[in-house]
Amino acid sequence: MATLRTAPRVRSDAVPLRTFRSSGRPVAIAGLGAYAPERVYTNFDLEKLMDTSDQWIRERTGIVRRHVAEPGTATFELATQAARRALANASLKASDLDLIIVATSTPDGPFPSIACRVQNELGAPGAGAFDLLAACSGFVYGLSCAETYIAGQRAENVLVVGAEVLTRMVDWNHRTTAVVFGDGAGAAVLRPARSGAGFLSWCLGADGRGYEQVTAGNVAHGAYASLESAPIIDMKGPDVFRFAVDILIRQAYACAAEAGIAIDEIDHWIPHQANRRIIEAAADRIGLPMDKVVCNIDEYGNTSTASIPIALEEAAWAGRIKPGDKVLMAGFGSGLTWSAGLMEWE
Ligand code: ACO
Repeated sequence: MATLRTAPRVRSDAVPLRTFRSSGRPVAIAGLGAYAPERVYTNFDLEKLMDTSDQWIRERTGIVRRHVAEPGTATFELATQAARRALANASLKASDLDLIIVATSTPDGPFPSIACRVQNELGAPGAGAFDLLAACSGFVYGLSCAETYIAGQRAENVLVVGAEVLTRMVDWNHRTTAVVFGDGAGAAVLRPARSGAGFLSWCLGADGRGYEQVTAGNVAHGAYASLESAPIIDMKGPDVFRFAVDILIRQAYACAAEAGIAIDEIDHWIPHQANRRIIEAAADRIGLPMDKVVCNIDEYGNTSTASIPIALEEAAWAGRIKPGDKVLMAGFGSGLTWSAGLMEWE
């Protein structure tokens, strides 16, 4: 495939992308945390559950293992573990938090929010708390909300968490979806940047015409109206694959243009970890070499809102990301939704 160096040609029926340049005081990530349940299902474990093979899963998705929450483990527990680590990494106390935003596609129930449960576990009474549903795009949507609060001086320290127990929503007999998903949580603490670095630009959007592409539960009748007990994920895999590659490419160019930088200046690209082939195809067409791409899908599978913060935390922990580096996070998912945020690392 030819390497793309100029912005991609956009189909005439493609939805225009909305981009925003960061304004107000600069906002940076002060700390990161991640958590995955100890229990692991390898591809070989899945071979015993359904008609699949380690070779098919590796070749078609890049996934080798996924972490699976024990029965009874709730989303808020994973979220709290990641949040504690992010707070410690930021050298902040829970009482320093002004706002907690949790992005999740697998809340423990319609209410109370996971954010309120996390607030209670951390011991941060009084901090604002709400959940956000934008499927796999949710974490970056959450970051953009947090940035807006801090840049506009409505908050000093904001915790953003992505947390999922997606394996509760898969039918282990349905091989096309069951092999893809895993459980985990990732968190970031945002605060005013000390050095003037921080977020530069955003690209957030949705196209609800694609609402049937990735669903969970009885969408036609409403999950609660139909009294179904466990919503099961259904996905038009190949269609979502094509959408994902296209939107990842367009978001990268849109964010870079809004920030006034060239694609070559992006040092680390952290895409939603849905399928290694999606990531490789998009990186190739954007013109990003794989050493600039953070990909840990082999270990976790698709953890929806948790995938970007887990990958970001691992890259930062490994010392890959240095102050001054340009980092682009990019999500996409059910809705259909997309979200990307470009920042200069502090
Ligand atoms: N093991 C063995 N064979 C399989 C498996 C499996 N686990 N799954 C599918 N197959 C077979 C199919 O039956 C089909 O066989 P056929 O050709 O004989 O009919 C063949 O493999 C190809 O099937 P496809 O569905 O076309 O497989 P594809 O290569 O597209 O991979 C996948 C499926 C992994 C789901 C891919 O389409 C994908 O990653 N799509 C994107 C998903 C995504 O990005 N989701 C993000 C949103 S998730 C959210 O928002 C919550």
